[in-house]
Amino acid sequence: MGTKLMCGEGGCGVCVVQTMLYETVMEKELNYAINSCLCPLLICDGWEITTVEGIGCQKTGLDQIQTSLAEYNGTQCGYCSPGQVMNMYSFLTNPSYPIKMTQQAVENAFDGIICRCTGYRSILDAMKVLVTSSSCSKSDIGDIEDLKGKLCKRTGKICTGQCSDSTSVRLVLRDAQWYKPTTEQELIDILKKCIDKKIRFIMGNTGTGVFKDLNPANYDVLIDMHGMKELYGVSFDPTSVFGSNLTLSVLIEIFERVSAASETSYMKELAIYLSRVANVPVRNAATWTGNIMLKHQFPDFPSDVFTMLVAMQSEIGIGFQGEEISVENFLSYDMTAKVITYFSHKILDPDEVIKLYKVMPRAQNAHAYVNAGFRMRLDSKNNFMVKDTPVIVYGGINKNFVRATKTERFLKGNQLGDPKVLKGALSVLQQEVVPDSNPVLASPSYRKQLTLILFYKFVLQVIGDKAGVRFQSATDCLSVSRPVSSGKQTYDTQKIEYPLTEPLQKLEANAQVTGEAVYIDDIPAYPNQLYAAFFVSTVGNAKIQGIDTSGAMEIPGVVRVVTHNDIPDGCANTFSIYSPIPEEVFCSGQVLYAGQAIGLVLAESQKIADSAAQAVKVTYTDVQTPLVDLDEAIQKQSFYPKLSDPKVAGDADAAIKDSPKTVTGSISMGGQYHMHMETQISICVPTEDGMDVHSSTQWIDGVQTAISQITGLQRNVINVEVKRLGGSYGGKITRNHWISAACGLAAFLTNRPVKLKMDFHTNMNMIGKRYPYRADYTVGFTDDGELNGLKIVVYADCGASVNDNAIPPLLSMIDNAYDCANWTITPIAVKTNKPASTTCRSPGSLPGIFIIETIMEHISKSLNKDPTDIRVKNLYQQGQINPLTKNIITYCNISQIVQNLRDSADVQTRLQKIQEFNQANRWKKKGLSIVPIKFGILWNGITYGINLCVYASDGTVAISHSGIEVGQGINTKVAQVCAYEFGIPISMIKVKSSNSFVGANSITTGGSITSESCCQGIVYCCQVILQRMAPVKAKIKDPTWLKIVHECVEEEVDLVARSWYAPVGKDHFQYYSYGATCAEVELDVLTGEHQISRVDIIYDCGESMNPAVDIGQVEGAFVMGIGYWMTEELKYDPQTGQLLTNSTWEYKPPLGKDIPVDFRVNLLKNAPNPLGVLRSKAVGEPPMCMSCSVLFAAKHAIESARQEIGQLDYFPLDGPATTEYIQKACLVDPSQFLIQ
Ligand SMILES: Cc1cc2nc3c(=O)[nH]c(=O)nc-3n(C[C@H](O)[C@H](O)[C@H](O)COP(=O)(O)OP(=O)(O)OC[C@H]3O[C@@H](n4cnc5c(N)ncnc54)[C@H](O)[C@@H]3O)c2cc1C
Ligand code: FES
Ligand code: FES
Repeated sequence: MGTKLMCGEGGCGVCVVQTMLYETVMEKELNYAINSCLCPLLICDGWEITTVEGIGCQKTGLDQIQTSLAEYNGTQCGYCSPGQVMNMYSFLTNPSYPIKMTQQAVENAFDGIICRCTGYRSILDAMKVLVTSSSCSKSDIGDIEDLKGKLCKRTGKICTGQCSDSTSVRLVLRDAQWYKPTTEQELIDILKKCIDKKIRFIMGNTGTGVFKDLNPANYDVLIDMHGMKELYGVSFDPTSVFGSNLTLSVLIEIFERVSAASETSYMKELAIYLSRVANVPVRNAATWTGNIMLKHQFPDFPSDVFTMLVAMQSEIGIGFQGEEISVENFLSYDMTAKVITYFSHKILDPDEVIKLYKVMPRAQNAHAYVNAGFRMRLDSKNNFMVKDTPVIVYGGINKNFVRATKTERFLKGNQLGDPKVLKGALSVLQQEVVPDSNPVLASPSYRKQLTLILFYKFVLQVIGDKAGVRFQSATDCLSVSRPVSSGKQTYDTQKIEYPLTEPLQKLEANAQVTGEAVYIDDIPAYPNQLYAAFFVSTVGNAKIQGIDTSGAMEIPGVVRVVTHNDIPDGCANTFSIYSPIPEEVFCSGQVLYAGQAIGLVLAESQKIADSAAQAVKVTYTDVQTPLVDLDEAIQKQSFYPKLSDPKVAGDADAAIKDSPKTVTGSISMGGQYHMHMETQISICVPTEDGMDVHSSTQWIDGVQTAISQITGLQRNVINVEVKRLGGSYGGKITRNHWISAACGLAAFLTNRPVKLKMDFHTNMNMIGKRYPYRADYTVGFTDDGELNGLKIVVYADCGASVNDNAIPPLLSMIDNAYDCANWTITPIAVKTNKPASTTCRSPGSLPGIFIIETIMEHISKSLNKDPTDIRVKNLYQQGQINPLTKNIITYCNISQIVQNLRDSADVQTRLQKIQEFNQANRWKKKGLSIVPIKFGILWNGITYGINLCVYASDGTVAISHSGIEVGQGINTKVAQVCAYEFGIPISMIKVKSSNSFVGANSITTGGSITSESCCQGIVYCCQVILQRMAPVKAKIKDPTWLKIVHECVEEEVDLVARSWYAPVGKDHFQYYSYGATCAEVELDVLTGEHQISRVDIIYDCGESMNPAVDIGQVEGAFVMGIGYWMTEELKYDPQTGQLLTNSTWEYKPPLGKDIPVDFRVNLLKNAPNPLGVLRSKAVGEPPMCMSCSVLFAAKHAIESARQEIGQLDYFPLDGPATTEYIQKACLVDPSQFLIQ
């Protein structure tokens, strides 16, 4: 139950478990973290596997890792927690490597598990505290002699030193044969026998995570190589030889040990390079052999290992008869029924250098845009003359390109230290490298530039201090040299109010870290349960001609297919509720986008349902080119009818006209996939009189309504229950209605329980994402930069429907913290052939604030003034009226917060240092940016039902509220408030699941306001009960809680209370949350890679109900924003409209090394909120709106890079500012690649 499944491709890590695998260096079996999703059951033969349940539980006690993660508040939704725990458990229990027990090593080890909630800081802190910070001593490392080749006494070949004692296995499966040979002869016999069959060797099976075709189910013969102990060998005399069963982790270990023990420094280079391949759990299972075989089978694959082996001039051993081919010839070598047995390479001579590079979209765990290897024999005394034909190899160019042979020839005999040679080599390289074009990849021009850039970096690295000091800054790789990160949090609490304001651990944390927390996917199968899978459209704009389900129905275990034709008469094919615009559950004819649901396949298992969904054939007519690009849609005026009137305040036209200064510009930002680790899920169970529903919804009422609409069942027989969600971030507000409606219909039609768990790719393809926007603006302002008037046209890419319209919050938040009397904001809803855009954390506010912050940057640039000064000049002051919402800006502390931040973050000194740094370095640049926020909290329209009961016999309390625990800690806050009001220990309070009985007619969880609202509801319930208790209490001498409760029952006092929280604020916003962020970013100007050096946040959380939980929200929201602004890019196929970035291979949310190196979060002290609930303020969304500070800091660094070539003009920086986009904005050109 603890181990989870999400991506099924090794890219998210929620499935990590520990296993014992054979390890060559220590010659024994050791513990490793691996991705269970990639691990076929049969390879586990003889393995010992430990899951999170195996290391500790709430009853018998938690393991130290579990305790630490819970205590550091490293869990929010908790879906990733079992994976995090097991990753650390494997790290700590692998006894071979004291070398690894450093904080740096811990951070390195957490490159494979996505946490969308926490922002990683708390997780990393929880893990780092478990190791000492001391680094290893030389004696820990071992002796190179230990690694030298050992000849097997039995076979006379290189061997691990122990004879195989595993047993060979042969299994006849339904569609395939499974072998596990243990000797050379057995393997040869199998290969001979099966020569005409489709053979697949299996080691890590991680190749399946990248290429679905490699799924073992597609092969006739599967050969598990783990029993072949002789293929784990390592030898160093006279050449180094590495067996084919060595994993990437073991190779790294060997390279590290050899380099440390023998001054073979190039091996360190190899170790560092390999450490940037994939992630730890993948590397623990994946072999180098599997990697180069991927390159052999899929020549487009930008294999890092292949590039390394070519640079090393390795030979590949094929079979057991001494056949050896060069790694380059290997690509065209017929590998049918052939086995790789080793690679070898000649140890480098002292005059040889080898350098390896990889440029990727985020700091860890990403495939290369381009990788490169350079190996040269150099005469360092002769200006680095290249003595021999060098090796220059690139990956990621095109399927045929391996070596830059013309450049190699050009270099032979020339001096690398000679600027003319560099120039000449770059020119040859430029001609011979021709990257292919593929819409999912980085552009050919960028990839081409990277080849030049990496060569330039190599030259600078080799010539070292012979290069000009400013140019030496090119050589350092930011993610490799990144220091151990640190975090600091400050807040105040009111001890007198404890447990209110106490930084308590989340109530569910222990259940989450032990894997005992139950999510919907963990609910045991109901008797007779069916499993459902959607089949979706593959084109983006067409009519359905026919649906052929015969192929699917022929698959044993398939029960039926459900389409729109199966919806009962009189029922509606829509999951939209309270909206006149239907959104179809199943497409009824006109396909609006690729990925649109056409039907469901129901089967006896999930696996059968998934494969049957692929077997449904849909044909289309009237196929049109879909519109997936926002700019193109604007140009074609593909607009929905007007959704809202322009927001007008004052007279913007006149104000702009009368302004001494104006700027005009345009800025865009993309979509964002929610990336909740728990995909959309619903289980619908027919009952004697209706249906029970477990769904991962943020809005119970909506699910009930949607199922009622499509089945015709009355709402009062549909019982929806939600215990917790594995993340949501707005993606499960309306979109789960859809999944639950489809699932409910299937259960209704079959009268059997149906489980619909969306597989990750369908979830990504089918469900809409954050709204992309473009804003075109004209702004008038004074000579000092004070705003006079703004005219903004905002285009919102709604996709296929406008139901989840995010325009209203944008219109009321776009002013952010700035006062201006004159506005005209015209919203235009753009129609594209993409899934309907939907709410995503801070909808409307995030883009609105980015737009006005961009304008602030534009103004300051046009005036050549400090952007923070311009911002400060325009900040709202206490008592001013917000012209957009007409309410008074009350309790306004924004100016003070910004000033505090400037002081506490030492901004002035740091700006000075940044300037010095930028002057001293040509190829590394830093920038700093401050972004303030004012975030309005809406109360009107909110409705939450809350029930509270006190059990008389022991005085314990149970609560059910209609908010949803999505990881934000609502249950913990609710319990704290209850304990505070009643004056009882929090341990006496239990928060139950949310359900459609208590939560009837309640609104969604969202808008940052649900925790506060439910807490206020609890206050009412407690007050009701306390009032009823008061007369009884008055009669008791020395009343205690228990005495009162007992007596109340005697006197028949009702100890159950209900509240309906439906506040009506008099203003548009009840109150404002304020905050400010200072972000500092460092760029590698040449590649566009970035590192967030430091972030300081001050956030006004009022009197935080739980500072530990609230800091988690600040950090989590901010880091989700970092992903949005810096790495998460959605790309669509312009021909079909299909989402191309629909996998963890291509879509890149932040990981642990993408967060700030130094992350300081301060909750504003002494700031009780007179207008909020119990003096607190909301926190879930506002901090995300300050994350654009990272993009602006990067922009300032880019400005510094552009200054180098005299480019001082303003330029817009759209989001996401990916590595490629940043590099292009730096205007790098090979003519700038100088040595001096
Ligand atoms: C999340 C993730 C991230 C990744 N990131 C990167 C990255 O950044 N850079 C990169 O280069 N790669 C990356 N990869 C690819 C990864 O390195 C490969 O999947 C892995 O090395 C394959 O090794 P394996 O042992 O799992 O092979 P398997 O998946 O078991 O097999 C792969 C192929 O190799 C063949 N094969 C295996 N052993 C032999 C043998 N002895 N002789 C002949 N054929 C054999 C199999 O038949 C199969 O066709 C990533 C993979 C994942 C899942
Ligand atoms: S489910 Fe295994 S890595 Fe995502
Ligand atoms: S707590 Fe990590 S994904 Fe939610």
